[in-house]
Formats: sequence, structure tokens, C-alpha cells
Amino acid sequence: MSFLRVYNQMLSALSFYKRAKSVYQIHSPFLFEFCSQVLDESDRYYAYEYIETERQIFLQNDNEIDFLELGAGNTGINKRKISEISKTSLSSPWQCEILFKLAKFHKSETILEIGTSLGISCAYLAAGNRAAEVYTLEGNPSSLEIAQKLWDKLELDHICPILGNFDHTLDDTLSMISQVDLAFIDGNHREAATVDYFERILEKSSDQAILVIDDIYWSVGMQKAWDRIKNNKKVRATIDCYYFGIVFLDDRFKNQQHIAYIDAKYKIWQRYLSE
Ligand SMILES: C[S@@+](CC[C@H](N)C(=O)[O-])C[C@H]1O[C@@H](n2cnc3c(N)ncnc32)[C@H](O)[C@@H]1O
Repeated sequence: MSFLRVYNQMLSALSFYKRAKSVYQIHSPFLFEFCSQVLDESDRYYAYEYIETERQIFLQNDNEIDFLELGAGNTGINKRKISEISKTSLSSPWQCEILFKLAKFHKSETILEIGTSLGISCAYLAAGNRAAEVYTLEGNPSSLEIAQKLWDKLELDHICPILGNFDHTLDDTLSMISQVDLAFIDGNHREAATVDYFERILEKSSDQAILVIDDIYWSVGMQKAWDRIKNNKKVRATIDCYYFGIVFLDDRFKNQQHIAYIDAKYKIWQRYLSE
């Protein structure tokens, strides 16, 4: 990772912290309910434990697989250890728990994930809503093979994996499904690609759809992508959680609302101050 990228991420983190509000400063009833029930909710679900056990097994697995590099950062086919992929490419347990709670909170019929990797975040989404059809897109055959074994082991049989480059599989998948209710965009972290996937999914999204964009401060390009997404006219509200951004299309929001959100434990004084 380049010095400039780390420097830029530090500046973004500081600016995020300064702007961020905790639940005590959220005035919109819908966003207050969302933050309380999804972002701040601290119940421990059994699914967390059994999926994290599998992540630990990946982290200790030094077997190498052929890895077709498709996203931002690298190109070509490399040998990569499963342990290394698990360390560097997967959403953190904290973020995965939020995806689980989001899937549980939002009664989606169709969930779409862009970027499966070893299948961990998809397992959380699928465990959070067993009634939904969960589509997940990945270009690397070796990763998808491992992901499929994981889901079989966890008995998550409502996941439909789609293999191939997003440039082709996204449109094919969108033409197969009637609408997208919940999406997680976590692959190919480039500005143009991220905005393009978002806009294509938007065309097929239900009125109440929620779209999550990963790594919005990973690079200057991703920050620009996030700004462009926020400015899209169909977007009614966004929550910037630093590691990812959440987009709401719900037209109950009369005016666009954008908040940066942080758990109250990191800004404890906000409990005693109201704006
Ligand atoms: C960050 S990882 C996904 C991690 C996963 N969502 C998780 O948190 O468990 C991104 C994945 O997207 C895949 N990918 C990136 N660009 C792609 C493209 N253009 N087409 C298909 N797959 C791609 C990569 O192979 C990688 O496995």
C-alpha cells in the first residue's frame, strides 16, 4: 500500500471522526430506528460463531490456489495462500455482523452481492435472511469453489453463485431477477467500475432497496465514487460508516439526507448534548 494512500486514509478518518454523529444526534425516525436496530444492536447471534469458526480455519490454511486477479490493485494469475486472502480481502467480523443484521432487518426477497471471494460475507447475508434468494458474483473460479464448500457445510442452500467477470455477469444476473432489494458492492474498487455497478443495480432496485458500498475511503477514486453515488438523484439518504456506505432509495425521505455515523461509545459525550 503506497504512503500516499495511507496518508489520505488517515486524513479521511480524522475528517470522518469529526463529522460523525452517534444515535443520540439522529433526528429522522427511520434513520434512528435503522441505526438502533442494525448498526448499534449488540445481540450475539449463533450464526456469528459458526461462520467465524470457518474464517479461523481459512486463516490457518496455508494451501495455495490459482488466483485470477481481477479487482483494483493487481492483474494476471498468481498463486495466493487461502490464509493471505482471508487476511487481506474479506470484510471484518464487525462489518459482516452489520450485513447479517441488515439482511435480518430488511425483509428482502432478493439479495445481490458483487464480490464473493471465499464466501464469508455472503454467508452472513444468507444466514441473516433464509427466505431470500441470494445471488453472489465472483470472477475467480478457485475462490468460488472454496465458497461453495463453505456454504454447503453451513447448509446455506439459498445462495446462487455466478462465475465470471462482473462486466458480463452483472447484466446477465440483473436480467434474471425481478428486482434487487438489498445489494452489497464489494469488488473491483475503482471509481468508474463502482459507479457503473451501482447505477446498473439502481435500475433494477425496488423502491425501498438498500445498497451497501464497501471501502468508500480505500482510495481517492473510491471517495469520488462515493460522492458521485451520494449525488445521484434517486438516492434519498446515505449513512457513511467509514468502512462502507449505506444508500437508501426510500422516498419517505423528502429531502436528501447524508450522515456520517459512529457508535456512541466512540463519542460518549454526545449522549449528554443535543443539537
Ligand atoms: C474484496 S473481495 C470480496 C470479499 C467478500 N465480499 C467478503 O467480504 O467476504 C472482492 C472479490 O471480487 C472479485 N472481483 C474483483 N473484480 C472482479 C471483476 N471485474 N469480475 C469478477 N470478480 C471480480 C475478486 O476476485 C475478489 O474475490
